[in-house]
Amino acid sequence: MVVLGLIGCGVISDSYLTGAARSGLVRMKSVADIRPEAAAAQAAKYNVAAVSIDDLLADPDISIVINLTVPMAHADVDHRILAAGKHVYSEKPLAATFAEGQAVLADAAKRGLRVGCAPDTFMGAGHQACRHAIDSGRVGRIVNGVATVMSHGMEHWHPNPDFFFQPGGGPILDLGVYYVTNLVQLLGPVKTVTAIAGRGSETRTITSEPRAGEVIPVTVNTTVNGVLGFVSGAQIVLSTSWDVWKHRRLPFELYGSEGSLLVPDPNFFGGAPMISARDGEFEALDIAAHPFGVPNRALRDGREVADYRIIGLLDMACAIGAGRPHRASGELALHVLEVLEAFDRSSAEGRHIAMATTCTQPVPVPLGKSEEVFVG
Ligand SMILES: NC(=O)c1ccc[n+]([C@@H]2O[C@H](COP(=O)([O-])OP(=O)(O)OC[C@H]3O[C@@H](n4cnc5c(N)ncnc54)[C@H](O)[C@@H]3O)[C@@H](O)[C@H]2O)c1
Repeated sequence: MVVLGLIGCGVISDSYLTGAARSGLVRMKSVADIRPEAAAAQAAKYNVAAVSIDDLLADPDISIVINLTVPMAHADVDHRILAAGKHVYSEKPLAATFAEGQAVLADAAKRGLRVGCAPDTFMGAGHQACRHAIDSGRVGRIVNGVATVMSHGMEHWHPNPDFFFQPGGGPILDLGVYYVTNLVQLLGPVKTVTAIAGRGSETRTITSEPRAGEVIPVTVNTTVNGVLGFVSGAQIVLSTSWDVWKHRRLPFELYGSEGSLLVPDPNFFGGAPMISARDGEFEALDIAAHPFGVPNRALRDGREVADYRIIGLLDMACAIGAGRPHRASGELALHVLEVLEAFDRSSAEGRHIAMATTCTQPVPVPLGKSEEVFVG
């Protein structure tokens, strides 16, 4: 069994600690945080050890460390994990900047260690069913598409929303990352990005507890609209914003030469994709044959969703043992980070930005029922 450590015991650590406890492939041994009280609280809740970051990194049992710190700390913490001789699995984005992400991958390559990175939602049943529909030619060649992620921000629910409005945050890096990662798994790598970016306000007032009323600065763009040109020839419009109170746009539509595909929200693993043959009625695309689609978590608004965060790491753990590539890879995350950063660059420089990186389209997740699909 692969032994894990975790650094960064904030909001999202619950998903990983729950996911690790549910898995028969890994064992979470210890957790750490620059706030020792945060580590102690999660350790008590999930029956693991709370240790210092140095002790976690020095533990010879631990082979993979999960980095769930805030985006601006991702690269620093990754370098420390790699220097300790351990593989890294990071929350998204890979780093706050493309240059930092490149340095992390170079460090890992030099040491012969792996980097894995969220999001792994594209490995869920809803998105794998769409991949299968595209690969089997049901909608023909994807020519066009629209993806949208818009709301009024994060300061109404997250207890410490500052990082969302600092470099490494903003809707394009924080949420666009799910859409672009899923687009790359569905369509392959991106060739060019063209965009306009701006912001609705220079400050935000926190309305969540415990800091309700506190005003925080906004130092990143919060409305970013652009067009991705794929190597395949597909053109996809991506709209991301935290300046929108209400809208009626679907998360994700792809238009092919033989039909259309309604892709579920790539923030989650399941969903209800739909497909049309040419201009026929939309029909449900069956996701039941694919693993990681059954709802297992209730959201704040009561909706039941599939949350299997950690399957990218489980795949990486099995891939290390088998000597095969893993799907939620550093290479994929770095390409996606270059794409995301290109939205701001395109806007600032007033031109199309050509990508310097590319990546291999991750291979589809095999059909099956559980994490055992990664073992075989
Ligand atoms: N909250 C979500 O719903 C969500 C969902 C998906 C992904 N993410 C991603 O997960 C990451 C963490 O998000 P979160 O919402 O849990 O944030 P959070 O602020 O709740 O937690 C971050 C934790 O990291 C710790 N930390 C910060 N810098 C550190 C350092 N240098 N060394 C050790 N610990 C450090 C903080 O003390 C804090 O406990 C972010 O990259 C975010 O984009 C969050």
